[in-house]
Amino acid sequence: MRNILVTNALPYANGPIHMGHLLGYIQADIWVRAMRAMGHDVIYVCADDAHGTAIMLRAEANGISPEQQIATVRQEHIRDFDGFGVHFDHYDSTHSQENKARASEIYLKNREAGNIAIRPVTQLFDPEKGMFLSDRFIKGTCPKCKAEDQYGDSCEVCGSTYNATELINPRSTLSGATPVEKSSDHYFFKLPNFAEYLQKWTRDAGRLPVSIANKLDEWFENGLNDWDISRDAPYFGFEIPDAPDKYFYVWVDAPVGYMSSFENYIKTSRPELNFDDYWKKESGNEVYHFIGKDIVYFHALFWPAMLEGADYRTPTSLFVNGFLTVNGQKMSKSRGTFIKAETYLQHLNPEYLRYYFASKLSDKVEDSDLNLDDFVQKVNSDLVGKVVNIASRCARFINSNFNHTLSADCAEPELIESFIAAGDSIASAYEAREFSTAIREIMTLADKANQYIDEKKPWALAKQEGQQQQVHDVCSVGINLFRQLAVYLAPVLPTLAMQVQHFLNLDRFDFASRQTVLLNHEIAQFQPLMQRVDPKAVAAMVEASTESLAAAPAKAEKKAVTVKEKKTETSAGETAVIGIEDFMKIDLRVARVLDATTVEGSDKLLQLTLDAGEAEPRNVFSGIRSAYTPEQLKDKLVVVVVNLAPRKMRFGISNGMVLAAGNGDGIFIISPDSGAKPGDQVS
Ligand code: 2FM
Ligand code: ZN
Repeated sequence: MRNILVTNALPYANGPIHMGHLLGYIQADIWVRAMRAMGHDVIYVCADDAHGTAIMLRAEANGISPEQQIATVRQEHIRDFDGFGVHFDHYDSTHSQENKARASEIYLKNREAGNIAIRPVTQLFDPEKGMFLSDRFIKGTCPKCKAEDQYGDSCEVCGSTYNATELINPRSTLSGATPVEKSSDHYFFKLPNFAEYLQKWTRDAGRLPVSIANKLDEWFENGLNDWDISRDAPYFGFEIPDAPDKYFYVWVDAPVGYMSSFENYIKTSRPELNFDDYWKKESGNEVYHFIGKDIVYFHALFWPAMLEGADYRTPTSLFVNGFLTVNGQKMSKSRGTFIKAETYLQHLNPEYLRYYFASKLSDKVEDSDLNLDDFVQKVNSDLVGKVVNIASRCARFINSNFNHTLSADCAEPELIESFIAAGDSIASAYEAREFSTAIREIMTLADKANQYIDEKKPWALAKQEGQQQQVHDVCSVGINLFRQLAVYLAPVLPTLAMQVQHFLNLDRFDFASRQTVLLNHEIAQFQPLMQRVDPKAVAAMVEASTESLAAAPAKAEKKAVTVKEKKTETSAGETAVIGIEDFMKIDLRVARVLDATTVEGSDKLLQLTLDAGEAEPRNVFSGIRSAYTPEQLKDKLVVVVVNLAPRKMRFGISNGMVLAAGNGDGIFIISPDSGAKPGDQVS
């Protein structure tokens, strides 16, 4: 038996849990359950990441204290995780006494070891708010390309990076005031002191996915910099020891939350355990952090360095997952694919999603797609059509004809044996986080079980005289095969597994328990185990998640119906009928015309360079030359279809389409009112 501590990234206490978060939490929860099913002692903890400016401002906007804000959100997070069967042994908050003590201790040990420096930093300061502004709270004109309304760190139009102090006409997005430059002392963690240590650490066997270690090499080549770990008051966080009005930057005490959550868990629930057995250098126990690929930098550089500098052990491995797309695209509020955990739970069974994610996940740092059509199809065909079907086909005979008792003899010892033997490779796949492989192997077994029942046809045998023993034997084999499948699926489908355990009247459901074949064994009355996914419920969930249409979701739906019924004519005289699903596929964005030029050889087209809020400007050819001169268009806000397949034209490639109205007499570009920004969704 191994002693293992598992953590998930701590979610910020200022927003709801959504599908993107759940990918990583469900992944970790499945792994924890699988490792426990293999007999290991696994402790699984998490906490809310409660500090930082964003949370402080959110509380202010909500008219509550930060403490109230984080308490409310923590309850919501706990509710959502619980709803998805993500069962932490302990769910803490980084705003705890234990975390404050531990973060301070780690800091002080690093200070003693010479890993902290203090030096002044000049930053922009909002004189109205009385606070220093981080880059994302400052906007102004790009010093390079002069594009307006750019953030304090980089320009979304020309892509250049700069210091906020270089912005032309900077303003605070918090108060609108013009920021002033001000200097104050900052505390730095001397990351370069650990360059050699980290270079080796990141290459230790099993520490990190190789693709991530390779990426880190680029950072090492560019050289590591000191890390600014302090923020000036006002800040919601922990004061730095011996530094009044200076606070730990949220990313200092956030990972320390892994330790303090564990500490509070053993204090409250497992007093026989010892903190040091998990966190001291010589500890033989294992520590794993499940994280998203966006926070590797913090976990693979700062975190091990802080721990090493304070003489603690570092994590055994970082398990890194990719991002989630929904229907092949970034989650989007206007498309209704930014789905909150809470919204999902109002419409669908959480085990559907656990299964779907499991069927996609591997140990690779790859993005996963939640394709909603595929989701319905896969869950219905695999879980309902294959797995649950085995039990419902066999149980009714055992219940009604054989007094709820399985046959005393095993009619197909080899078949059942092959199912038991397959468990070894399924368990290895789980352990290696190759969940998609585990699911594939389990479904291959499910196909075999169904084939067996199809061949034997107990329902036909039951009608023949003298075949009762056969019916009993076949259905008992079927139930035994089903039991194997349910044991293998238990880490993914804990609720289903619990129902099956109850139905089969079993004390144990861990992987080792599968070795005993159920003979002459009494089972309970079969109850339906899982309903098919109703595509209407999925559509309702998407509708409930559709925010910019949310002002009139019913109206939007109604409009589509009206169009269908009346077959309205378009101006071009064709009839066009589309449903809301089709309409939602069109990604419309606000764009600013950066440049407009005439096109040599064409008297219809203008060539437009558009800023649609993306990393690169877009090139679009638009047939509007008869109505607009290039000068009239420069700097104008327009609406562009950004997900139109690029079109090769004689003059170049057109990447999108600008919307305009036309009545035969003229062309009129559709332009959002001022205030809209490049990249804003149009719906
Ligand atoms: O990126 C995030 O959502 C952070 N709240 C994750 C913190 S993980 C850990 F370090 F606390
Ligand atoms: Zn620029």
